[in-house]
Amino acid sequence: MSKTITLIPGDGIGPSITDAALRVLEAAGADLEYDRQIAGVAALHDRGDPLPQETLASARETGVILKGPLTTPVGSGFRSINVALRKEFDLYANVRPAVTLMPGGRYEDIDLVLIRENTEGLYVGVEHYIGLEGDPKAAAESVMIITRFGAERIVRYAFDYAVANGRKKVTFAHKANILKYTQGLFLEVGHQVAKEYEGRVEFEDMIVDACAMHLVMNPYRFDVLVMENMFGDILSDLMAGLVGGLGMAPGGNIGKDMAMFEPVHGSAPDIAGQGVANPTAQVLAAVLMLEHIGQPEVAERIRKALLTCLHACDVLTRDLGGSASTREFADAVISHLR
Ligand code: NAI
Ligand code: MG
Repeated sequence: MSKTITLIPGDGIGPSITDAALRVLEAAGADLEYDRQIAGVAALHDRGDPLPQETLASARETGVILKGPLTTPVGSGFRSINVALRKEFDLYANVRPAVTLMPGGRYEDIDLVLIRENTEGLYVGVEHYIGLEGDPKAAAESVMIITRFGAERIVRYAFDYAVANGRKKVTFAHKANILKYTQGLFLEVGHQVAKEYEGRVEFEDMIVDACAMHLVMNPYRFDVLVMENMFGDILSDLMAGLVGGLGMAPGGNIGKDMAMFEPVHGSAPDIAGQGVANPTAQVLAAVLMLEHIGQPEVAERIRKALLTCLHACDVLTRDLGGSASTREFADAVISHLR
């Protein structure tokens, strides 16, 4: 039975890379219907609301969002719609695979997954200034919040992910040596959950700064990594760097009954409207979505075609050193579908 998903093409390069992704999906035989909705700057212009009720209602109905990047205007008072969507649907697990797609980079054959806690930590937005002796900004404070509930569900997610995907090891990165309470609680919960998977998935904990060093020195010693929000934000970009940058990196935001898939990069206003953006991350976001909704064969077909296309190196977008347009690149991927 065909699955209906909520499609948010997004801002800037969003519409052109989602269009490319949809053409690849269609050619690969994905069994999908799309409920097209808007958000971000497009929705602000059309409806006066960056996150319209219709968009939220559609997502609630379908349970799956495929999203292009959304622009967050700087200094406009409107907060990031990406963050708002993650909060609205409690999308607590940010899943970011880092897989080598093109040969000739700094490393070959990288295949890692970082699972980042998406709702807690220092990013909860509990912040304020402290005034002192006439200076209203004499100091500032941001509170890191870790709950047993939040820690447990993200570590469990990482282990279940490892089991479901045949992965061998989970590395838990933390800073419990300094942040004894917040990170200490997180680590304690990590060890508790790990016990339940003993014999099935290997577990190690590692201080986050050492983890950053090891990721660069020898990324092959890792498999699945799990950590709190800010550490995950930073290390997942580092990991994208191991495989050629943000342009190749998709992400899934997973909640209990809702999931949202998107490229990791933004709306690229500097090249918007030129038709030259690389749709790879958007196509890979669609691949993650297909796996999530139970169409893994189509997902695999697309992944293989994308790999063949990138290895052939004759049709590449500008960011990869080629001169193909977004559309030409999508056509090349389609021509490699088997
Ligand atoms: P960006 O990722 O949009 O662009 C950074 C650089 O990478 C630019 O030079 C851009 O041309 C290039 N680039 C990005 N994606 C590309 C692609 N597919 N093909 C070729 N080149 C690509 O980051 P920036 O400029 O910091 O942010 C622009 C807007 O995007 C901002 O409003 C930001 O808030 C938003 N943003 C949205 C995200 C989301 O929707 N999840 C994530 C990150 C940023
Ligand atoms: Mg980030």
